[in-house]
Amino acid sequence: MSFKDLIDKQRLPRHVAIIMDGNGRWARLRGKYRTYGHRHGVRSVREVAEAGAELGLEYLTLFAFSTENWKRPKTEVNALMRLLVQTIHKEIKTLHENNISLKAIGDLDNLPEPILSELTEAISETAKHNSMSLILALSYSSRWEITGTIRTIAEKVRAGAINPDDINQKMICDHLSTSAFPDPELLIRTSGENRISNFLLWQIAYAELYFTPKLWPDFRKEDLYEAIVDYQKRERRFGKISEQVNGK
Ligand code: FPP
Repeated sequence: MSFKDLIDKQRLPRHVAIIMDGNGRWARLRGKYRTYGHRHGVRSVREVAEAGAELGLEYLTLFAFSTENWKRPKTEVNALMRLLVQTIHKEIKTLHENNISLKAIGDLDNLPEPILSELTEAISETAKHNSMSLILALSYSSRWEITGTIRTIAEKVRAGAINPDDINQKMICDHLSTSAFPDPELLIRTSGENRISNFLLWQIAYAELYFTPKLWPDFRKEDLYEAIVDYQKRERRFGKISEQVNGK
């Protein structure tokens, strides 16, 4: 039996976020260069995108490249950038077939021109699709995002457009790069690392965290289903007590 059969379609998370990790180790285990692992990670990206859209998730965010990843050896950064361009170009078909719209968050102006134009084109070509939004976090880190948000709000205060007394959680959310999306209810990280690595720190305040030892290139649809089944077994209390959330 598949974990898919155990999923309650009425209680799906609207938004799942994934920290795709373990490509380098997957390649090393096979005596290959790290980029071999990244290339094999593309299939996992396709599988989770298809599975998410088939299930009826509304948003799927993938941490594809962090602000800190720029510090990796230049050869790896260049190979990853090339792979991203090729993947977006090749997988546009998958996006069309599955009615998925592509979006991106992060310091996109920092991306090399070929990836930025490929990305912009794919975003605009898929803008009308409405089954699921696939959000790529590229050159993204949460501290980068929160710093930018604070700067923007501070500038509005200086210009007299915002009164500091009016700053509240909603205003902060509205200035984050994720302002158009709901917070993820489920955050998955592969490769057995139990940390968040500067990803969506504000947005995951109440997310359920799911860590799996699977390395990203081995992650398949079934693994996403398993994570969702696990999520659905949990009681989300948002600071309340069990009796309150269960209406007793
Ligand atoms: C983390 O593994 C993975 C990345 C930094 C890159 C993820 C990119 C892809 C899967 C390529 C295609 C993606 C898209 C969205 C088109 P790691 O290198 O940190 O692995 P390690 O922890 O084993 O070293």
